[in-house]
Amino acid sequence: MSKNSLVHRILWILFQALVVVVNCQLASFKPNVLSRHTATLVDNKLYILAGLNISRNATKEFFYLDASVQFDTQKLSWQDLTNINMVPLHVGATSAKEDVTGVMGYNGKFYLWGGIVDKVIVDDMLILDTINLSWEKGSSLNAPTSRYSFGATLLPNNKIIYIGGSNDYTVTYDNETLNIGGGTASYLNEVYIYDTINDNWSKEATFGKIPSERFGLSAILGLDGKRVIIYGGAFINPGYSDTTLYVLDLTNYSWYIPKISGKIPTPRAFHEANVIGKYMVVSFGDGYDKTVESDILLLDINNNEEYIWTTTFDPSIPKNIMPPSSSSSIDFNNIVGAIVGPLLGGIFLSVGIFFIYEWKKSKQKQKSIYGGITLDHVTNDGPAP
Ligand SMILES: *[C@@H]1O[C@H](CO)[C@@H](O)[C@H](O)[C@H]1NC(C)=O
Ligand SMILES: *[C@@H]1O[C@H](CO)[C@@H](O)[C@H](O)[C@H]1NC(C)=O
Ligand SMILES: *[C@@H]1O[C@H](CO)[C@@H](O)[C@H](O)[C@H]1NC(C)=O
Ligand SMILES: *[C@@H]1O[C@H](CO)[C@@H](O)[C@H](O)[C@H]1NC(C)=O
Ligand SMILES: *[C@@H]1O[C@H](CO)[C@@H](O)[C@H](O)[C@H]1NC(C)=O
Ligand SMILES: *[C@@H]1O[C@H](CO)[C@@H](O)[C@H](O)[C@H]1NC(C)=O
Repeated sequence: MSKNSLVHRILWILFQALVVVVNCQLASFKPNVLSRHTATLVDNKLYILAGLNISRNATKEFFYLDASVQFDTQKLSWQDLTNINMVPLHVGATSAKEDVTGVMGYNGKFYLWGGIVDKVIVDDMLILDTINLSWEKGSSLNAPTSRYSFGATLLPNNKIIYIGGSNDYTVTYDNETLNIGGGTASYLNEVYIYDTINDNWSKEATFGKIPSERFGLSAILGLDGKRVIIYGGAFINPGYSDTTLYVLDLTNYSWYIPKISGKIPTPRAFHEANVIGKYMVVSFGDGYDKTVESDILLLDINNNEEYIWTTTFDPSIPKNIMPPSSSSSIDFNNIVGAIVGPLLGGIFLSVGIFFIYEWKKSKQKQKSIYGGITLDHVTNDGPAP
């Protein structure tokens, strides 16, 4: 892929500068961010940007965790980059989409469906071509009803799956039990699939242990590319206790609750989930006590027969993890799945991160970790309890 545009070069230079500064920073730091942040994996580093802090104000914090080495979630060594955060906190609401989970396609395009624009929940598909930074509008024909704070992830077949969310601007939830108190969220008895190649939508009815209505959840692709794991969110209490982690089998759209060992953490909502190596790495979120529990949760998802909650991150990648093959001409390893924030700055950041990731990879021909970029809503006035 040739990416010789001026913008590319500018972003490249900016991010080289960033990386230089990154390498100069050593002191560990204690983040105040709570939820609704962005979490972006680049070059084995998990970058956390903005979000709401513990007093529920928008924060400018920007920091990372090095995932190229072993770490213990009880003793996280965050590296602070806040003083070089050039992403603006506030932008004009007209250009911003809030509470949207955008997805990076295999073709270098960001897909931003749904979300909130000017306090209106929308169902339009905006597509940012990250090669020439032009915007297009995708199809809304047969798109799901307008919603925000859904889970979304890119599948190996160039399709994006959308799960849950809410179309109720007034919905409220308890920040400790995460139970929805007033208003409602979307059902999960249907999931929606957007085909990034043909620009069309379809929906699939789901079966099995269908999770209750929820929003503020995360969705990741399993390591075998054949299942989607959803975690957390604010939910309608279904009256049983296993309410947090579900797996959707993509062969028959059947939900199941996987076998899990290890110490079960307090559930979270408006967190982020990234796949790093053999783990689902959950960062921050509403619902846990920061003084007791780590900001980071690790679920070892290497073995589909039994997932394991653990506190030690092992950076070595087991040999049996096979990245799903992609039908597109671009190699799967070129790809960083993405969740994009509504701020244009956030988008530029992720675009820059994407480019530098690509550049570093092609330069060093390193083994890449798939699963990648997730930039979520950087919002300071979206619905919150
Ligand atoms: C924090 O947010 C509240 C409203 O949510 C606002 O009234 C207050 O001014 C904010 N504080 C700061 C320091 O931004
Ligand atoms: C939260 O963010 C606001 C605005 O950035 C700041 O004034 C306040 O001190 C922060 N609160 C904490 C506990 O970090
Ligand atoms: C950007 O590139 C795409 C092809 O990747 C093309 O369809 C589109 O017209 C281009 N837009 C502009 C403004 O050049
Ligand atoms: C999407 O478009 C492709 C190519 O035209 C077509 O084969 C497929 O059936 C369409 N899917 C839906 C759900 O309309
Ligand atoms: C769905 O397919 C999986 C195999 O991929 C199978 O184990 C499971 O039993 C199926 N579920 C249902 C409800 O048919
Ligand atoms: C829930 O919100 C209340 C009031 O804002 C706050 O005092 C409490 O610490 C929050 N609890 C959690 C788990 O975030």
